[in-house]
Amino acid sequence: MAQHESTYKPSNNFGKWMDERLPVARLVHDSFVDFPTPRNLNYLWTFGGILTFCLVAQLVTGIVLAMHYQPSADEAFNSVERIRRDVNFGWMIRNFHAVGASMFFIAVYVHIFRGLYYGSYKAPREILWILGVFIFLAMMATAFMGYALPWGQMSFWGVTVITNLFSSLDSIIPGLGTSIVQWLWGGYAVTGATLNRFFSLHYLLPFVIIGLVILHVWALHVVGQNNPTGVEPKTKADTVPMGPYAIAKDAVAMFAFLIPFAWFVFFLPDYLGHADNFTPANPLVTPPHIVPEWYFLPFYAILRAIPSKLGGVMAMFAAIAVLAFVPWLDRSRVRSTKYRPVYKWFFLLFVITCLALGYLGSKPADGIYVFWARIFTFYYFAHFILVMPFVGLLETPKKLPNSISESVLGKSGGGGGDTVPSGATASPEKR
Ligand code: HEM
Repeated sequence: MAQHESTYKPSNNFGKWMDERLPVARLVHDSFVDFPTPRNLNYLWTFGGILTFCLVAQLVTGIVLAMHYQPSADEAFNSVERIRRDVNFGWMIRNFHAVGASMFFIAVYVHIFRGLYYGSYKAPREILWILGVFIFLAMMATAFMGYALPWGQMSFWGVTVITNLFSSLDSIIPGLGTSIVQWLWGGYAVTGATLNRFFSLHYLLPFVIIGLVILHVWALHVVGQNNPTGVEPKTKADTVPMGPYAIAKDAVAMFAFLIPFAWFVFFLPDYLGHADNFTPANPLVTPPHIVPEWYFLPFYAILRAIPSKLGGVMAMFAAIAVLAFVPWLDRSRVRSTKYRPVYKWFFLLFVITCLALGYLGSKPADGIYVFWARIFTFYYFAHFILVMPFVGLLETPKKLPNSISESVLGKSGGGGGDTVPSGATASPEKR
């Protein structure tokens, strides 16, 4: 995986014997212990590790839940209640899984905004970034299907509203949308058949995510990590070994992250959910206000901001798809927004836009809410399609430090004097 020269030395005869046959210990040592990481990484770089923890935690708790859960329309709701009340520590495992989904999304949003702020998507990290966008999509699909499983009112109506969106394709090819919707449902309505396939896919997709994460981390190890200056490491003085330095920092951040996590699990497990999901699914009673989980709200606001159904669906998917093109939309010569005096204000506006869309997604789709949702939807896309290319071309960035060590220690670490990132040079070989 790692591109730098291996420093692994087996400490005993068994290690040596293994190393000659299956050098797993060497791979782990070179990729996660001796791997050179920029010495100026801040705490925002700990979220990759936190995300890995979240993924493993969701998998472990999910597998235990699946041992007790019943994926049928008649039993699903009660089986979740049984898990909470009767299964030993079932309440804790269920809370951990449900709260864990929200914590996973908090972490992934921090991770994405970190990448956007520091230009981590720019060459040579395009593939790393695009793999991230695929992971994000797979996470959304997994979370959406997972939310259906308790088969409460919000589960049922959430599935009904979102799957129905595909019927808008009827306006392009008559019958196409309806066929897709019926295919997704496994019938002519949302029923137990729908629930059963959602359960199957909810179990499968995390393994797809694991595969994507392996590729993601592999790509990261080929090109090396970006850092707050956006200047590539040039000499050994610019990096520190991942173990113990970055690993220790990751561990501190992980424990800090676990504090609010545990707070929700033990004291407010249902705070992030919706009261209507404590009522079993009823196809004959529509809840007055159907809302998705908080992490989908900005996209839900975009969906409802567009007057046409098909237009709304396209805008919602485009809002995610546009992320994949960011490496080519951003025309700036420098990576990090820290050195971009004009763009940083637009970045702030973008963050406000996403938060505002999140708020508006939770409100009814009428009156002033729709008006503002349209304004912010416009800026959301304008940020990618207009601001990123044009501000990038027109702005004069601040002078970059000559090297990472200069930015940390205030003196030259022996690097060159260029004011733009050196581009495609991966850090590892240069140690
Ligand atoms: C299950 C979800 C994910 C996991 C487990 C994961 C894991 C990681 C890890 C371990 C790192 C290295 C440490 C760090 O920089 O924080 C990393 C870096 C990175 N990730 Fe992810 N990631 C996930 C999702 C995403 C998503 C959704 C995106 C973007 C759409 C993304 C984009 C990036 C980028 C650009 C880097 C390089 C950052 C840099 O070096 O500056 N990741 N990821």
